[in-house]
Amino acid sequence: MEKAQATHNILQVHEATNYYDHAAKPELLAQFWGDHTPFVRFFARLRCDVVLELAAGHGRHVPQYRDKASRITLVDALEQNIVRCRERFDGDGKIDYYANNGVDLSALDDSVYDSVFSYDAMVHFELVDIWGYLQETRRVLQPGGLALFHHSNYSLYPTNIWTDNPQNRNFMSNAIFTHMADRAGLKVVDQIAMEWGRVKDLDGLTLLQRPPL
Ligand SMILES: C[S@@+](CC[C@H](N)C(=O)[O-])C[C@H]1O[C@@H](n2cnc3c(N)ncnc32)[C@H](O)[C@@H]1O
Repeated sequence: MEKAQATHNILQVHEATNYYDHAAKPELLAQFWGDHTPFVRFFARLRCDVVLELAAGHGRHVPQYRDKASRITLVDALEQNIVRCRERFDGDGKIDYYANNGVDLSALDDSVYDSVFSYDAMVHFELVDIWGYLQETRRVLQPGGLALFHHSNYSLYPTNIWTDNPQNRNFMSNAIFTHMADRAGLKVVDQIAMEWGRVKDLDGLTLLQRPPL
């Protein structure tokens, strides 16, 4: 399948789904924010003053860092998700919203954020789109700022589309992610492989830094 079609397919599926209500249930939030999860451990290393959350969905992770932040930008390629976030956080002047094109962060200024992260979304993205987002992450991070990405570590079938693979993981590996981050000018500070849906090492969690000046 050609890349543009694959990216479009991922967005289409996320447009008409009951995922968001389901994912907001406490037992599913606990996969991320429960005691001693790798997500909590890695997230604790972010400063979270000026935060960019990529592919924020309906904003279920926002309450975890909202109190710490002085400014938050929620990005998602689906306009309807950005609308839901606006409604949910209505009146919170420190949050701004960006329905992007699924490829870049061109509306955002350089060197603004001390923390960029994405959970439970990049696992599905096309590798080529992740390459774009890594370059954009390098650009929008402050020097010394950190980015934390939850991505796929499944690279068995390069021509499969995401829905062919276990847990809808797209083609990616920790090694390829490390290579792309390096070429985008980001340093890998920490990286793990972890189980998802009872599949050992299906996912990767990678903490990146834009080198300080
Ligand atoms: C499985 S949902 C996860 C949402 C949120 N991160 C969460 O954990 O609740 C995936 C999200 O990624 C967004 N998305 C899909 N492809 C995208 C892309 N290329 N760029 C930005 N967002 C995208 C979808 O609109 C959806 O909100």
